[in-house]
Amino acid sequence: MKRIYITSNIPDAADELLKEKFEVDKNIDNKKLTKKDLIELGNNYDGLITSLTDVFDAEVLSQIKRTKIFANYAVGYNNFDIDYAKENNIIITNTPEVLSDTTAETAISLLFAVSRRIVEADTYVRKGNWKGFSPKLLLGKDIHSKTLGIIGAGRIGNRFAEKMRGFHMQVLYHNRDRDLGFEKSFNAIYKSLEDLLKESDIVTIHVPLTKETKHMITKKELALMKSDAILINTSRGNVINEVDLINILKNKAIYGAGLDVFEDEPAINEELMTLKNVVLTPHIGSASIETREEMALIAAKNVLNVLSGKVPNNKVY
Ligand code: DGY
Repeated sequence: MKRIYITSNIPDAADELLKEKFEVDKNIDNKKLTKKDLIELGNNYDGLITSLTDVFDAEVLSQIKRTKIFANYAVGYNNFDIDYAKENNIIITNTPEVLSDTTAETAISLLFAVSRRIVEADTYVRKGNWKGFSPKLLLGKDIHSKTLGIIGAGRIGNRFAEKMRGFHMQVLYHNRDRDLGFEKSFNAIYKSLEDLLKESDIVTIHVPLTKETKHMITKKELALMKSDAILINTSRGNVINEVDLINILKNKAIYGAGLDVFEDEPAINEELMTLKNVVLTPHIGSASIETREEMALIAAKNVLNVLSGKVPNNKVY
C-alpha cells in the first residue's frame, strides 16, 4: 500500500479521503519539521501534503527520491525552490481559488480594524476605561469614497475589489501586466507602483512572494504614501521590508497598517508589538472552517490523482 504523510494538522477530510486507498500518517502536533525530517519523510512516503512552513529548497529536494507529489496546503508555494523543481520535473500542487474570498475577507477585516481602531477600542472597553459617550473618543478614518490601491490584481485582489464595490471607491491597481478585464469590472486605473502609493488612501497587497516581489516595498516606497494612508498585507511578510515599515509606523508617517504575515514569522519584531497603529494577526488569511476544509480536500485530491497516474488539477507550473 502506498504511504502518504501530512506534515501539519490539516482538517481530517484529507485523511478520510486518502485512507480509502493509502496508509496515511499526519503530524498532528504540528511539530516543526527540520530539513532532515523533510528528507526522511520524502524518502519514506509516496506522497506528501506539505505546509507553507516546510522549506523545500534544492538541498532538500535533491535528497528526496521516493515522494511523487508535494501537495502544498496553501495557494502560495514560495517554500519550494521552484526553479529546481521545474528542472527536475518535481510535481508540486497548491490550493488556489478556494481561498480567494476568505483571504480577501481577512484583508478587509484588517482594513476595518485599522481604520476604525477596533482592537484599541476593544482593549479600552475591557480595561474599564470607558466613562460614557464622548464625541472625540477613538476617532478613526472612513473607508467609503476613498481611493483604493490594489497591488496584485490576481484572484484575491479581484475579490477584494469586488467586495468593496458598495464602498464607492476609486480603484487603482498595479500588476505585472495590465489587466483590461479588471479595469472594466471595477472601473480601475492601472498605475506604476510609485503612483499607486502616492495616490491611494488604502493600499492592499496581493502578490505572490517571488524573486521579483521580495522587498518590493521598502522605505523608498513607503515614503511615497499619504500621511493618512493605510497599508494591508495578507500576502507574504517578505514583500515588505518590515524594519522600514516599523520606522514609518513609529514616525506616524502613515495612518496605520494591518498585517497578517511577517518577515520572520512566527517571530514578531518586538517593536511592532508596541505600536498602536498596527493590527497584527497570525497568518490567518485562509483560516475559515469552510475554506480550510476545502483546502484539505483539494490537496488530498491532488495526491490521489498523481498516485493514480493522472494529471493533478493544481500543478503550480
Ligand atoms: C496561502 O494559502 O498561501 C495562505 O497564505 C495560507 O493562509
